[in-house]
This record gives sequence, C-alpha cells and structure tokens, in this order.
Amino acid sequence: MSHKALYAGSFDPLTLGHLDIIERASKITDDLVVGVIENPNKTAMFSDDERVRMIKECVSGLSNVTVESFSGLLADYVKGNGFDMVVRGLRNVTDFDSEVQMAQLHGVLYENRAETVFLITDPNYSYISSSMVREVFGLGGKVDKWVPKQVLKYMNEKQKFVVLDENGNNV
Ligand code: COA
Repeated sequence: MSHKALYAGSFDPLTLGHLDIIERASKITDDLVVGVIENPNKTAMFSDDERVRMIKECVSGLSNVTVESFSGLLADYVKGNGFDMVVRGLRNVTDFDSEVQMAQLHGVLYENRAETVFLITDPNYSYISSSMVREVFGLGGKVDKWVPKQVLKYMNEKQKFVVLDENGNNV
C-alpha cells in the first residue's frame, strides 16, 4: 500500500530538527508533503511564501518531498487532499502529552482516513524550537548548529533589511 503523508508545522524557521524528521519520514512514505501553516501572526520572522521557498531549497535533494502552504483546520486539509498518514516529531515527554491529546482528537476529526505516526526527534535537536532559534539570533547569537545553511542565508538577509525585535520577529 502506498502512503501519502503530511508533516505540518509553522516552520518559522525550519530547523535541522525538522529537516531530520523530513528526511526520515521520506524514507517510510511514498509522497511526503511538508505543509506550512499560513501564519496569521504578522510579527512572524518569515512570510508564508518565504517559509515555503526556503524549505523547498532544503529538501531539493529528496525526490518524494513537496512543500505547500495551507490554512484552516489540519483535519480538513488531510481529508481534502487524500493523506493517509500525518507525521509528528516527538522531542520529549511534554511533547508526548500534548501530541497524544492532539492525535486522539484528530483520530475523530480524520474519520479514520489517516493515522498519526510519531518519529522521535534526533537528541541533538530535542531541546530546540523555532522560537528559541529566533530569539538567540535576534540577540546576536550564532544559530548555525541548529538551522540548515539555506535557512541561515535567509535569516542573515532578513537581518540586513528589516528590524528584528529581541525574539527575532519583524518589528
Ligand atoms: N526539531 C526542532 N523543533 C521542533 C521539532 C523538531 N523535530 N518538532 C517541533 N519543534 C518545535 C517547532 O519549531 C515549534 O516551535 P515554536 O513553537 O517555537 O514555533 C514547536 O516545537 C511546536 O511544534 P508544533 O507542535 O509542530 O507546532 P507548529 O506551530 O509548528 O505546528 C500545527 C502546529 C500546524 C500542527 C497546528 O498548529 C495545526 O494543526 N494547525 C492547524 C489548525 C488546527 O487544525 N488546529 C487544531 C489542532 S488540534
């Protein structure tokens, strides 16, 4: 049976932890879509288009991975686009608690059309999050050990042309 999987997130920005999950998920699925949730939060570091563009650059070597953006309910996107698998990364027990609840809720919303599959995050990245990376970057710290080089290029460009607050968000 072939599997079409979704790995959704806000990815503001994509980290090496996310990329590790994408690479591993691409090996166990036939088609993997990285779904970038459209961000109604105007203070995000990157626009929806920028996030899609930079993730495409990062996954260009993975032939079964595509990148799209979506808005609204995750379950509607899953049902409307024929996904039978939703991939989630687990970093720690805190993630586990909230992910169990979300998977159970989605089990109802998916109407048995998709399964949630968990991949354990690489321990090198289990302590990071996009907002922590933005904050370190916004305060002048180095983030190259946590983000792909393509993402770092976008972050450096952003810093040249816009003012970022201490959380790394556009002001
Ligand atoms: N490596 C590094 N960081 C990781 C990671 C990994 N493997 N996995 C998760 N993270 C980080 C993310 O960067 C994110 O950091 P941030 O909060 O600083 O941005 C944090 O962990 C939480 O990740 P996640 O739970 O995937 O949140 P998200 O905001 O990226 O995406 C959606 C959440 C898109 C799945 C969720 O908002 C959604 O489904 N939205 C649609 C609306 C909907 O259906 N709502 C009902 C849901 S019950």
